Amino acid sequence: MAAVDRGFDVVGYDVDTRRVDMLAEGRSFIDDISNERLIGAISTGRYIASADPSSLEGFDVAVITVPTPLKDRGPDMTYVVSASEVVGQWIKPGALVILESTTYPGTTDELTVPLIEKASGLVAGKDFFAGFSPERIDPGNAKWNFENTTKVIAGIDAESLARIEAFYVALGVPTVSVSSTRAAELAKLLENTFRHVNIAMVNELALVARDLGVDIWEVIDAAATKPFGFMKFTPGPGVGGHCLPIDPSYLSWQVHRLTGERLRFIEAANEINEYMPKFVVERAREMLNARRKPVNGSRIMVMGLAYKKNSGDSRESPSTAVIEGLIADGADVVAVDPLVAALGVRTVAPLVELTQAEIDTADLVIVITEHDDIDWGMIQASSTPVLDTRHHLELREGLEYM
Ligand SMILES: NC(=O)c1ccc[n+]([C@@H]2O[C@H](COP(=O)([O-])OP(=O)(O)OC[C@H]3O[C@@H](n4cnc5c(N)ncnc54)[C@H](O)[C@@H]3O)[C@@H](O)[C@H]2O)c1
Repeated sequence: MAAVDRGFDVVGYDVDTRRVDMLAEGRSFIDDISNERLIGAISTGRYIASADPSSLEGFDVAVITVPTPLKDRGPDMTYVVSASEVVGQWIKPGALVILESTTYPGTTDELTVPLIEKASGLVAGKDFFAGFSPERIDPGNAKWNFENTTKVIAGIDAESLARIEAFYVALGVPTVSVSSTRAAELAKLLENTFRHVNIAMVNELALVARDLGVDIWEVIDAAATKPFGFMKFTPGPGVGGHCLPIDPSYLSWQVHRLTGERLRFIEAANEINEYMPKFVVERAREMLNARRKPVNGSRIMVMGLAYKKNSGDSRESPSTAVIEGLIADGADVVAVDPLVAALGVRTVAPLVELTQAEIDTADLVIVITEHDDIDWGMIQASSTPVLDTRHHLELREGLEYM
């Protein structure tokens, strides 16, 4: 969208025809892109969505932003491979290719560039230019967006870097360059691993805080008053999305492959963060038990299916693991999430509207995702027991924090 705004002719090429059809009809599936903005782009005549590879013909710049998921705990490079091949089939001399997908250090050099060379018969650095620049989008963040977030950039050589910088500057994006594509690839993994590890650390404290007789939230707020040397992270029901639970494993996989060493921080963080949904199920069991109720047959209302607040994205969401755990124990689970509902995707539990009757029928409400656009006052004012994993509501009779 930024490229359309700045006067480029843009093709959004995707192999997913359902997504292409939606985009062509002006229906956005991205939280931060409104239908109005998409329709505006289409009406300029400078944007098309297409599933036809020949729409790539004659491109000057290709930006690859395909998924990089995990398979058997290692990188699944299928999409990067197929995208690099299709770019290689349509590239012409003088063009620039930028990989933006989050990936292990070495991908641009060892995988993307050789695949493009093989498919095109062109030589990188001579016939075409290439580099890496990690995506830094934080979905739902009202302050930091594509245009005002500095982009780390790296080229396979000086000329490639100069062209990459010129491209992002043309989009109005601030840039900072590093000396190699490996450094840019690792910078992204460092950013996400830093977050992953710090969340795991507060999660581990949250697991034992009750045994220590302290309120972990009070402790974190107290520590956060230190104006230097501390950065606030908060516990939760587990980490989700397609970045935090996945990216650190790209790093540990590559380190293990090259050195035989394991990254112990990442392994410990994975273990703790993956345990959190089980802890939420355990806490739910405790709360029901205290009311002489088994999980089996209890009606549990889960607030939030998305992996983060104000997003409709439920991929890798901890609420999925929590709900599966509750259902496995025989609970009758319903979920409330208007943002996920709007996307019409399949959900792990039936979606219901937040009504007084639903709250009254529930034996327990579990707060997983604290979307702003929810009438939290209804839950706050009710007498239904609540397990709040986000410290979002005020303490009242029957309301407990995770
Ligand atoms: N979404 C974010 O907030 C975010 C933030 C930072 C980094 N990233 C990274 O960006 C990358 C993409 O993430 P995403 O959330 O946009 O993924 P996504 O799954 O939403 O979108 C990727 C799209 O690529 C398409 N695709 C797959 N193979 C293709 C091919 N060969 N040719 C053309 N299209 C193809 C898929 O159909 C899909 O629509 C990942 O590496 C992710 O880790 C995403």
